[in-house]
Amino acid sequence: MRNIQHIALGLTLTGLLFILHSPQSDAKGSQGKTMPIKIGQYNDRPPENEASIADGRLIYERACIYCHGNEGTGKGPVAFFLSRDTGPRPRDFTLGPYKFRSTESGELPLDEDLFRTITRGIVGYMPGFVGLDAPDRWKLVYYIKSLAPEDFEDAQPEPIKVAGSPVPLTAMSVKRGYELYQVAGCWECHGGSGKGDGEKAPDLKDDSGMPLPPANLTMPNSFKAGSQPEDLYRTILTGLDGGAMPSHDRFKGHEEDVWDLVNYIRSFAISK
Ligand code: HEC
Ligand code: HEC
Repeated sequence: MRNIQHIALGLTLTGLLFILHSPQSDAKGSQGKTMPIKIGQYNDRPPENEASIADGRLIYERACIYCHGNEGTGKGPVAFFLSRDTGPRPRDFTLGPYKFRSTESGELPLDEDLFRTITRGIVGYMPGFVGLDAPDRWKLVYYIKSLAPEDFEDAQPEPIKVAGSPVPLTAMSVKRGYELYQVAGCWECHGGSGKGDGEKAPDLKDDSGMPLPPANLTMPNSFKAGSQPEDLYRTILTGLDGGAMPSHDRFKGHEEDVWDLVNYIRSFAISK
């Protein structure tokens, strides 16, 4: 196993020589930004009140109901056919928990997190709704929250602190990230070569008992929560609740090291 990992690391480092000057390795532009992630129109926000929630319901009936269901419990007619018995079902908005958050594990998502998910969609499972005007997407956020009023009322979820900013994708950073991948036990699920074939992989399930294979880290386009450095930082620290991707408290106090792990994950796609 170790040998294979070393060969993989060797290939990775070789691959890096080719991409170091490509635009992808340019981490500028995101320096010093706080979560949540830049998507335009975060500010084009209507007031949150009974009227906007009622509008949200109407939009929901057009765009979301066939998957998330009439009551928002994830039992729409299309839900079953999306992935039969092999993939996550649409979220039950009356229960949570939420996968895609900028907040600590166990916390509610920020409104901006819900807005981002609705805007971008979830690769392989849910279309992005960038075709709806931003105010309509906000109204959907308000409507979804109204389905779990006791949870969301008065809640003020806090985003996690972002330590530092993305570091350049250099061979040194990838090597440090490789070491973190070993100590943090990422390989147990994602496998030594990142293909999602770790020893724990076959038995992983989500909270509802559906099988939930670990992501194939060599395919960043399939990442549900995005594959930009900031997205990976957020995913690694906050985890995807309700599934099997844990949050990683072990980075508490030295969060800036996560940027190296982010680079190691990004290097999988290069060395493939
Ligand atoms: C084609 C089916 C489909 C449609 C249409 C759809 N969704 Fe989803 N949605 C899903 C699935 C499946 C998941 C769960 C994915 C997972 O857990 O990995 C999900 C999850 C979500 C989540 C939870 C994200 C999280 O953090 O856990 C939100 C919010 C959401 N959908 C909102 C919407 C809204 C609003 C609409 C309509 C504008 C919509 N969805 C339309 C299938 C769909
Ligand atoms: C206990 C098993 C397990 C461990 C340990 C684990 N993961 Fe995961 N990981 C998963 C599963 C399962 C998913 C898919 C979750 C989903 O789709 O809801 C996932 C998804 C991911 C994703 C893709 C997220 C997305 O947007 O789709 C990344 C990136 C990732 N893991 C990185 C890591 C890193 C880095 C570590 C180590 C610090 C790690 N994982 C440790 C099980 C694990």
